[in-house]
Amino acid sequence: MARITAGVATSHIPALGVAVDLGKTAEAYWAPAFAGYEWTRAWQAAEAKPDVVILVFNDHATAFDMKLIPTFAIGCAERFVPADEGWGPRPVPVVEGHPDLAWHIAQSLILDEFDMTIINDMDVDHGLTVPLSMNFGTDAAFTTPAAWPCKVIPLAVNVVTFPPPTGNRCWALGEAVARAVASFPEDLNVQIWGTGGMSHQLQGPRAGLINRDWDNGFLDGLIGDSDRLRHVPHIEYLRETGSEGIEMVMWLVMRGALGRETRLLHRHYHVPASNTAVGHIVLEPVA
Ligand code: DHB
Ligand code: FE
Repeated sequence: MARITAGVATSHIPALGVAVDLGKTAEAYWAPAFAGYEWTRAWQAAEAKPDVVILVFNDHATAFDMKLIPTFAIGCAERFVPADEGWGPRPVPVVEGHPDLAWHIAQSLILDEFDMTIINDMDVDHGLTVPLSMNFGTDAAFTTPAAWPCKVIPLAVNVVTFPPPTGNRCWALGEAVARAVASFPEDLNVQIWGTGGMSHQLQGPRAGLINRDWDNGFLDGLIGDSDRLRHVPHIEYLRETGSEGIEMVMWLVMRGALGRETRLLHRHYHVPASNTAVGHIVLEPVA
């Protein structure tokens, strides 16, 4: 039987990917941001070793635009190519999917009354590739591997165009993903990741907004058996964490999939890194 063994959340700041790609991870500005991922990098390689990651992420007008805005979409393809976001595609491996598990999850979710969009062709942007770099760098410089060490099922959430799904709906989707994984007969070690965030605003008069207190309260809320984060309204993300802080609802898909209670394995928070507060947490489900 497939089982969800851990949940990982991380910011997906594009400049972290650029730091990896240009060999700048040891520079004074970037080193503290990466230092907080060293525990995770080592744990993934030596201990966790997932077969598959269900990677909850958002596309940034790369694969989707105003022509097509799926609220929840699941990638069922064999492979997903790194997108060209304007400077050429990142020099990172093609992302290998897991079509059998992805189609199984799609079927299970849709019959469980989550109306997923199914994607068979999608280039993946920094929202997906930066989290892979932060988890699967091969050494302390976060050098990109020749191939990613596991299969990846992209699960895209619209957080770019109003209205994004509610935090409660994201949490419930995570619960349904967990049911779907548990009913897949093959013995697979599956992780679920939530990405994006934490506080950031990239535009307008409040550009550069960071809210350490709120972000750390959000990290606290993911640990243990509280479900208070289900009920944080969109207006609170907007007010407290800036116009792009709403990306954090994707972390709630991860949290919902871990079940009633979680245990903290690792936590990291760092400012400054580009325009965003770097947040990162590793959790495991408490049986
Ligand atoms: C930044 C953060 C993001 O989440 C994003 O999608 C783009 C840019 C930033 O901090 O620069
Ligand atoms: Fe983003």
